[in-house]
Amino acid sequence: MSKQEIYENLLPQVVSLVQDEGDLVANMANVAAVLHEAFGFWWTGFYRVRQSHAWTDDRKELVLGPFQGPIACTRIPYGKGVCGTAWQRGETIIVPDVHQFPGHIACSSLSQSEIVVPVIKAKSEGANGESETGNEVIAVLDIDSKELATFDETDRCYLEQIVKCLA
Ligand code: SME
Repeated sequence: MSKQEIYENLLPQVVSLVQDEGDLVANMANVAAVLHEAFGFWWTGFYRVRQSHAWTDDRKELVLGPFQGPIACTRIPYGKGVCGTAWQRGETIIVPDVHQFPGHIACSSLSQSEIVVPVIKAKSEGANGESETGNEVIAVLDIDSKELATFDETDRCYLEQIVKCLA
């Protein structure tokens, strides 16, 4: 089966997995598992945008969420690594060779290529009830491969559709 055919089979599965469940973490856990199983990636998981753990600090950072694969770093600052950069840009980043990406964070020395897809939520209402427009990144999906140049536009296209089901 081609990569495209695998994704085409996965999409309805993902929709049916998440459509009746409102808990984001539960849905992320199943999406990570489904992708990891289908493709045999090295690491498949989510980082969520959360408050910094330093209580004096009101900044946000990425915090490790549901994943499949070896242990990973737990916190990534805004704009750092591939994940923090995808969060900052609000767009998918495909890295054919992680050693060529300045600032790449190596959670595993075996990882060779990577794709990071932001989970984007439309802002509907501000804190005081006033309407607010625009989008916010609430998490990123990060997938690592042990081979170089694993990810391409097909992955971007389908993974962006898959994370839309979460937001
Ligand atoms: N490589 C990522 C860090 C997360 S791990 O790969 C799971 C990055 O540079 O942001």
